[in-house]
Amino acid sequence: MPILSPDAIEFISRSPEQTRRVGARLGMLLSGGAVVALEGNLGTGKTVLAQGIGIGWGATTSLISPTFIIIRRHTRNQDDEHFYHIDLYRIAGSAEAEALGLTELLGDPGTVCVVEWAERAADLFPEERLWVTLRTLDEQRRSLTFRATGDRHRAIQEKLRKELAGY
Ligand SMILES: Nc1ncnc2c1ncn2[C@@H]1O[C@H](COP(=O)(O)OP(=O)(O)OP(=O)(O)O)[C@@H](O)[C@H]1O
Ligand SMILES: [Mg+2]
Repeated sequence: MPILSPDAIEFISRSPEQTRRVGARLGMLLSGGAVVALEGNLGTGKTVLAQGIGIGWGATTSLISPTFIIIRRHTRNQDDEHFYHIDLYRIAGSAEAEALGLTELLGDPGTVCVVEWAERAADLFPEERLWVTLRTLDEQRRSLTFRATGDRHRAIQEKLRKELAGY
């Protein structure tokens, strides 16, 4: 697994199931205050990855592609944390995302946020986050690049790197 820079790693997924498993490993490492931004074109696997993240975190409801619903909240059994699955595909720009309350959710200590089409409101994101860029390589293969900023998200990424390197 290439290490692009001290703060970035790239993982090549060969199937939707593998992307979902990577997401689940990441989700297990997340707790309140974590911010995961997913950037990438249509069909690159953002929702598949988010579904895995929700599973790993322990969401009691499954994540779906929120066609018209921009923000969907999930809970888990072990504590009061909230998990927000947000899809900014339909927003016109970051002003609209701000009006929806995105700024209050991102980085809130009791909240995990996973945001599809994060690049549409990039300026609203806190400095400390895990930014994931997805690219389609061919029908079955996707490149996932993780770029963490801030000590906490860097530590999450480093744990993930160690786990994925064992694949
Ligand atoms: N390695 C892979 N990882 C993830 N998805 C894959 C992979 N290979 C093929 N796919 C397929 O690509 C599609 C990804 O769909 P998904 O809804 O996750 O994309 P998305 O990035 O969320 O798109 P949108 O921008 O429409 O929300 C699925 O049909 C999935 O089966
Ligand atoms: Mg999607």
